[in-house]
Amino acid sequence: MVSTVIPVPPFDLVIFGATGDLAHRKILPSLFRRMAAHQVPAGSRVIGAARSKMSRADFRKAAGEALTRYVEAKLLAPALVERFLGMIDYVSIDAAGEGGWGPLAKKLDEKPDSVRAFYLSVAPQLFTPIAHRLAQAGIATPESRIVVEKPLGHDLASARALNAELAQHFDEHQIYRIDHYLGKETVQNLMAIRFANALFEPLWNSHYVEQVQITVAESIGVEGRGAYYDKAGAMRDMVQNHMMQLLCLTAMEPPSKFEPDAVRDEKLKVIRALDPLKMSDTVRGQYRANGKDGSYLDHVGNPASRTESFVAFRAHIANWRWSGTPFYLRTGKKLSARLSEICVVFKHPPHTIFPQVDTLRGNALIIRLQPNEGITLRVAIKDPGPGGMRLVEVPLDMTFASTLGPDGEMPEAYERLIMDVIRGNQTLFMRGDEVEAAWEWTDPIIQAWEDSGSRPLPYDPGGAGPIDAYKLTGSDGHLWREIAA
Ligand code: BG6
Repeated sequence: MVSTVIPVPPFDLVIFGATGDLAHRKILPSLFRRMAAHQVPAGSRVIGAARSKMSRADFRKAAGEALTRYVEAKLLAPALVERFLGMIDYVSIDAAGEGGWGPLAKKLDEKPDSVRAFYLSVAPQLFTPIAHRLAQAGIATPESRIVVEKPLGHDLASARALNAELAQHFDEHQIYRIDHYLGKETVQNLMAIRFANALFEPLWNSHYVEQVQITVAESIGVEGRGAYYDKAGAMRDMVQNHMMQLLCLTAMEPPSKFEPDAVRDEKLKVIRALDPLKMSDTVRGQYRANGKDGSYLDHVGNPASRTESFVAFRAHIANWRWSGTPFYLRTGKKLSARLSEICVVFKHPPHTIFPQVDTLRGNALIIRLQPNEGITLRVAIKDPGPGGMRLVEVPLDMTFASTLGPDGEMPEAYERLIMDVIRGNQTLFMRGDEVEAAWEWTDPIIQAWEDSGSRPLPYDPGGAGPIDAYKLTGSDGHLWREIAA
């Protein structure tokens, strides 16, 4: 399989928060990998902007170190690294004050024809002041792009306020709200599987689909992000954004075109069709200590915390396609494996000539996001050999890496998303109304948990979350899939 690089126009990408973790870990390495793939046109620039007073040479040095740390050694050819560092510049800027905006404007004016993109890799309280300064200093042109990333608000009211503030200076077509899950290869493959094949779509509804399970399990804990995480919890950190996007892409109607608003309109309809979540349809958990490795409460340094590090729930989509099919979602930290997958389980055949069919689990399409991206179709066949007509379920398995061949490189989410920003394609970015609708759905349940005064259920690290999560599926006669990589 040959991967094709679609050219992008020359660009100036300004990274606010350029000395921060995201810039070093993801943004700079992603740009470098795109350069290695010959996608970064000559004349493009990456301009770091941060409060630290440092020279261009200092920032280049820091960027070089980030590459050494986060890019595969085999890609780091010295000539390429030099070329990459050669396109890097730096301005020291006071995000909320006056300093640095003039020099930034001057730099950008050197290349008026380049695409201008501003990546706000900063604390969310700086989104609005930076947007305001960019407009005030005349740096943002009507075609410039601004990139922001979660947390996009803390609830509906704050998300609305943020959208309104950004809208004062940027039109919706200029705002790129990143959800890095949308940049994952298999998430896009979900659309390809559904809409490029005649096979699944006729069955993709409650007449044929018994249940859908979406799991995003992590083996890591809160890993030094306790201060942020304890104010967020799994619902705000993972469900309101990443999992909601997976649910939308799984459940949406076929869009009329593969175009940003056509796709986003259909996703929005799914969120709006969700029944309000009942407390009895949710299970919250918090991980306990495991030997020397402390508990969630130790990790966030808040012994009284009621924040959930795990959540499972049963959602219903009230529309013609899905009425009657439960969607089970779960996500959590410190589980048995890092595993993200969507599993669509089909109903049993309406009439069977093989009595054993009822004892099988049924056809299922499993879309694996990570690890080992790929799809598996579970089908029943005759157990080979003598012994009568015995049935056995086998996986028809396709791992994308093996299909791409040993040299097949799958771009990281950020690589694809940054190039889409430059290209001006918003299909894989969230629209403001989608973000608001997702908060509108999650807010009441978060509020209900808070009002109830109850605590999340404790669970042991290395498992599948609280046992009650099994009651959720069990009460419908279903069983969660195992969390195993
Ligand atoms: C982030 C969350 O958005 O996604 C983290 O804030 C989480 O808590 C991460 O660990 C998971 O992303 P991935 O790509 O590793 O599945």
